[in-house]
Amino acid sequence: MSAGIYIDNSPVFTGHISELLPVWLRSKDFSSIFVLSDNNTNRLCYSYLQKSLEEYAPVHAFVIEPGEHRKNLETCSLIWSEMKNAGLDRKSLIVNLGGGVIGDMGGFCAAAWKRGVEFIQIPTTLLAMTDAAIGGKTGIDFDGIKNTIGVIKQPAAVFIDPVFLKTLPDRELRSGMAEVLKHAAISGELSSGWVDALVQFESSGPDWIEILTRSVSVKTDIVREDPDEKGIRMLLNMGHTIGHAIESTFLNTSQPLTHGEAIAVGMICESHIAQSHNIAVPDMDLLSRYLLKIYDLPRITDGTTEKLWALMLQDKKNASGNVRITLPDAPRSMQILNISRSDLDDSIAYYNSLI
Ligand code: GLY
Repeated sequence: MSAGIYIDNSPVFTGHISELLPVWLRSKDFSSIFVLSDNNTNRLCYSYLQKSLEEYAPVHAFVIEPGEHRKNLETCSLIWSEMKNAGLDRKSLIVNLGGGVIGDMGGFCAAAWKRGVEFIQIPTTLLAMTDAAIGGKTGIDFDGIKNTIGVIKQPAAVFIDPVFLKTLPDRELRSGMAEVLKHAAISGELSSGWVDALVQFESSGPDWIEILTRSVSVKTDIVREDPDEKGIRMLLNMGHTIGHAIESTFLNTSQPLTHGEAIAVGMICESHIAQSHNIAVPDMDLLSRYLLKIYDLPRITDGTTEKLWALMLQDKKNASGNVRITLPDAPRSMQILNISRSDLDDSIAYYNSLI
């Protein structure tokens, strides 16, 4: 079996789930299995693991409606009721099969059930494979604010199989590429061949195993060093202060952006702000060029900047009333900057000049 990359005792495997999962299960002693999926992942992905699970222990599958608007306490309540009906005990295993919503919410439900049962993440989107499924962040949205309630709890294992990428629409697949490029940017690997292969992506597909292995190892190294996000893990927020504000602002328009598109805008703007504060983000021009090649990004109108700033003032990463961004100034080295409204305005003007 592939050795996996470890965070504490928790392996992250990249390869064929049909081979990796049965071997891992045989090394464990679970009493029963509860599979959480949504309508899409149940239909398109469950068959890749169903037999391995059913040969191991009694399985109870629970399917929910897809979508971020389901990531709330009401859905957790449904999941816990179903866990109770299924008679789960503390030796049961929860299997989260899906994208970020399923992984975050299923992880949270597992972490709270009977004070914590083991769970595994089986991400089915590129975004979840490279980011959300790794590092133990679990949680739900509350009162309209993303990821307000949750805990950090490492999964018992993560299984990353690029076979699931075939199930994604092109725009959803591309959404994950921004996080892969972010990992390359913060580890100084932007000019590597594997990044070029990702950016030149055509329908025949690049070598996903190599891309995922490289990207995942950047994230696992950082999480291993700082699991509770007290230091270097904050570097993974690159592009996300402005990016999250962009994502929320476009959400209720006729042209909502994917997470990756919004983070792409955020990375371009935040790198520009860093440069104007004399912090040189390595390969910043290459990063912008790659992002503009992958995504068809919109211009940001003057009126939008006001809304962005209002949202950024509410960002949960702020400290002492300051809006903060984190950027690399060298591979795996972080700078934290307090930024002003005029920094934002200048960066949006710069971004618009590239569009
Ligand atoms: N998504 C950033 C992190 O896991 O820290």
